[in-house]
Amino acid sequence: MDPTTITLHPRFHVGPVDPRIFGGFLEHMGRAVYEGVYDPGSAHADEHGCRADVLDALRRLDLSVVRYPGGNFVSGYHWRDGVGPVEQRPTVRELAWQSIEPNTFGTEEFLALCARMGWEPMLAVNLGTGSPEEARDWVEYCNSPAGTRDADLRVANGHREPHGVRLWCLGNEMDGPWQLGHVPAGQYAVRAQQAAKMMKDVDRAIETVVCGSSGVWMPTFGAWDREVLTYLGEDADYISLHRYVDNHADDTADFLAVGASVDRQIEQIDAVCRAVQAERSDGGRRHAKRALLCFDEWNVWYKNLDMDGAGTFAPHLIEEIYDLEDALVVAGFLNSFVRHADVVKIANLAQLVNVIAPLVTRGDELLVQTIFHPFAMMSSRRDGVSLRTGVEGPTYEARTNGTVAYLDASAILGADRLHVFAVNRSLAETAPVHVELLGRSLTGVADAELLTGPDPKAVNTFEAPGVVAPVRIDDRVRVRDGVASLELPPLSFVALSLALTTS
Ligand code: AHR
Repeated sequence: MDPTTITLHPRFHVGPVDPRIFGGFLEHMGRAVYEGVYDPGSAHADEHGCRADVLDALRRLDLSVVRYPGGNFVSGYHWRDGVGPVEQRPTVRELAWQSIEPNTFGTEEFLALCARMGWEPMLAVNLGTGSPEEARDWVEYCNSPAGTRDADLRVANGHREPHGVRLWCLGNEMDGPWQLGHVPAGQYAVRAQQAAKMMKDVDRAIETVVCGSSGVWMPTFGAWDREVLTYLGEDADYISLHRYVDNHADDTADFLAVGASVDRQIEQIDAVCRAVQAERSDGGRRHAKRALLCFDEWNVWYKNLDMDGAGTFAPHLIEEIYDLEDALVVAGFLNSFVRHADVVKIANLAQLVNVIAPLVTRGDELLVQTIFHPFAMMSSRRDGVSLRTGVEGPTYEARTNGTVAYLDASAILGADRLHVFAVNRSLAETAPVHVELLGRSLTGVADAELLTGPDPKAVNTFEAPGVVAPVRIDDRVRVRDGVASLELPPLSFVALSLALTTS
């Protein structure tokens, strides 16, 4: 393949990379909580009943923020069921996934886990079957000083100081007929505004995420977002985007190009936010706030569609097995978020353990799936400002995603490092790549990791866990005359950290 040149300029900023784009999502679904992060019966259980092996692996992802407790689950969830003495908590029928929910893991367990792991909590309130007032009460429970009913309930549960939960999602996928309590946009907007107003009246420091379209394929895509944002106005700090991509067509070249469509989704919803801002700005006479983007569910998901728990506890639901091409698509999602760092402020990989997850448990064993690696490779190099990437090189025509460069790239300029991320989407050809930073010189390789595998469908298994795993390739990157060069094998992802001159 002809060489690709990635040209960067230290002053051509997209915006600072918000660490919260390296977030995760933990739902009461299948074996995500029970048998996932929380399993008091496991040989790996710590003193809190959490699985130490799972948490150790999650630490390697360096997650910034974790969304909880759903997902579709939240639209039937009543937070009071999950606080107080565990033996007094009710076991309930859970309708989103037809499971049994014992509520032995709830608000306090989650927030304590966040504190131990250094995660910022992001709570989703029930605006399906719950009321705006129930949502308001949860903010009081979490964030108010002692002295009022719900804050004192928290104190009685052993936590005198407020938790200070800043991020709150106003429901989940309320545009979808599958959602418990689904309503048309106008009705959701009223519910969400009532909730946001009371929640912010309880704690002025909180930020809200309103439900946007749950997929680009929704018939109300864009229109829903516009109506909701227009009604919510200043009460909407962020709008949520969701995206699950698939390779049902078994067309790897097209699948690897799906990042182009993620770019488009971000730009379209951002355009809606800007249009609403313009309309609300009253002909420019005042300056209305613009909602920013919270991509709070994203992943590859299509191979395992088991979603019926059949009235059981911790059923095996959507336990997707991930392969190399999925890992490259995950890198593509993150590249897209970095390229749009000016508008994408939060993003949550859905999910963390067992349920469409980078980690899978089997009894006391733990498997690290392919998609774990690109996330860890980028999350550990996230500090800095996103740079505009000029990519000049060969392109191809993807069946549904249009013309794309073989090389999908993003770049972050840190204090003393330039981080470059690139996927070679070619199925067969090695891609020679040059990276240049105009006005500064690259002086050497701090470290470089490469992820690839024997074929696009290669997977890690409990028996062969290292089939798709990153390797250090520092010695395969040449830095000469201020320019870094390397050769990317077909179907591979590289994360490069380069040293540079100070000016
Ligand atoms: O992540 C699994 C499910 O996908 C979530 O519960 C829901 O929000 C989405 O449809």
